Amino acid sequence: MNDERYLTFALGKGRLANKTLELFEQIGITCEEMKDKHSRKLIFVNEELKLKFFLAKGPDVPTYVEYGAADMGVVGRDTVLEENRNVYEVLDLGFGQCRMCVCGPSAARELLLHHERIRVASKYPNIAREYFYNKKHQTVDIIKLNGSVELGPLVGLSEVIVDIVETGSTLRENGLEVLEEVCRLSARMIVNPVSMQMERDRIQKLVRRIRAFKL
Ligand code: PRP
Repeated sequence: MNDERYLTFALGKGRLANKTLELFEQIGITCEEMKDKHSRKLIFVNEELKLKFFLAKGPDVPTYVEYGAADMGVVGRDTVLEENRNVYEVLDLGFGQCRMCVCGPSAARELLLHHERIRVASKYPNIAREYFYNKKHQTVDIIKLNGSVELGPLVGLSEVIVDIVETGSTLRENGLEVLEEVCRLSARMIVNPVSMQMERDRIQKLVRRIRAFKL
């Protein structure tokens, strides 16, 4: 019987995972085991609903889902775009809203306007490349960083950055500003293409429940 199989969810660690679990709880999907903050367990099970959950680093979530190690995942759209894995994006969960932007000191506006060959630092080199090369047709040098990307223009590593802007306070506090918007972001539910075929009913039912709850 179809329902005998566990459906496995990979959740990006941190705020998105907490929000996702809150949402699931509101539609009656709970996982008591996961609430124990001292637990060192990695995989949590809801025996009754035949669901499993595990927490992973955000950028690894699409990898687990593409390979079928997880049937489904929840991760930011930034990660979906950057990782570009073979997964279906089935739902915009609406939370975790922010923007991917080109940011820098206001003086860098000119460099963008005149399509200068500038250096762009980012945790998201693929998104940055896609934006500058394919959308703006501007040749730039992209430098991959792993965090605190705002340092780039401050210490002279790059002229601009491509990064997530939520409240804008990191930019403000460092004398930087949004120069261009690349795209809007929020949490997305992704599904393994084979799971989508094999478990279509269960997955669609879940997606419908979340959609109905959010509307
Ligand atoms: C993210 C992002 C910005 C900041 C934006 O960084 O990279 O630095 O949040 O938020 P704000 O607009 O509300 O200030 P994160 O905290 O994830 O750390 P990181 O810089 O190490 O990636």
